[in-house]
Amino acid sequence: MTATTLPEATTVPTPQATPRHYLMCPPKYFTVEYSINPWMDPGTPVDVDRAMAQWTELKNTYERLGHTVEVIEPQPGLPDMVFAANSATVIDGRVLGARFRAPQRAAEAEHFRRWFVTRGYRDLVMPSRINEAEGDFAWTGRVLLAGSGFRTDPEAHAEAQEVLGVPVVSLRLVDPRYYHLDTALFVLRTGDDAQIAYYPEAFSAGSRRVLQRMFPEAVLADAADAACLGLNGVSDGRHVVLPLEATGLAERLAALGYEPILVDVSELRKSGGGPKCCTLELHA
Ligand code: ARG
Repeated sequence: MTATTLPEATTVPTPQATPRHYLMCPPKYFTVEYSINPWMDPGTPVDVDRAMAQWTELKNTYERLGHTVEVIEPQPGLPDMVFAANSATVIDGRVLGARFRAPQRAAEAEHFRRWFVTRGYRDLVMPSRINEAEGDFAWTGRVLLAGSGFRTDPEAHAEAQEVLGVPVVSLRLVDPRYYHLDTALFVLRTGDDAQIAYYPEAFSAGSRRVLQRMFPEAVLADAADAACLGLNGVSDGRHVVLPLEATGLAERLAALGYEPILVDVSELRKSGGGPKCCTLELHA
């Protein structure tokens, strides 16, 4: 075949799923009774049964896709414990615990630490700096993208690099609505050819340039995608779980060969959370 007749060479490969291992916490004690981000209005009533139904559907979705979901026991008085992603960063079986900025969430870290100890994770370090875990850390399989600006201390990025032994790339968030990295960016595909989706306006000018340099092919989200917490997605490399309203982003991902799966997270969003916030990935 001559070079002019090689269409296969330019064909984009079909995205491939890999099995994932997640940790989740049911929203048994979910409420919005304090406000630590602009989404939270303590005056808004929350329907706990509905939150539980939405969470259960999210968990069922992962299981239908063949992923393993473990569940930690929720604790009374910790309404945000449902947002398990904030509670540890696990890479190659090494665990870096969390240290929350808000006193209302501080006690969550110890419940998760105990879960990891009970489950036999030996290599576990609790951070000295404020570190909201996968809320601000996204693992591409090669580098850890790390957010700061609202929650996680920039010094926690260096601590994560030291404890986890992975290269960390610091990014600065500038819009209070997108207070955690996982509200503005998520990893679609891990590995050498890692791919991400992100909302550029949530980042400082310098961080935007870093992202552009590292991921020139990234899927860029717009204001509407971001405003429904559409960047709080969970991808297994092929299936991408997104909030129901993220239809524009879903269409663009589908055109690239991904399979978007839309889930209703309306109750959890009252606290500023979406699918990813509820899902801590245990990177083997
Ligand atoms: N109400 C929680 C907070 O403000 C929501 C956390 C959402 N989690 C996340 N990974 N973005 O801390």
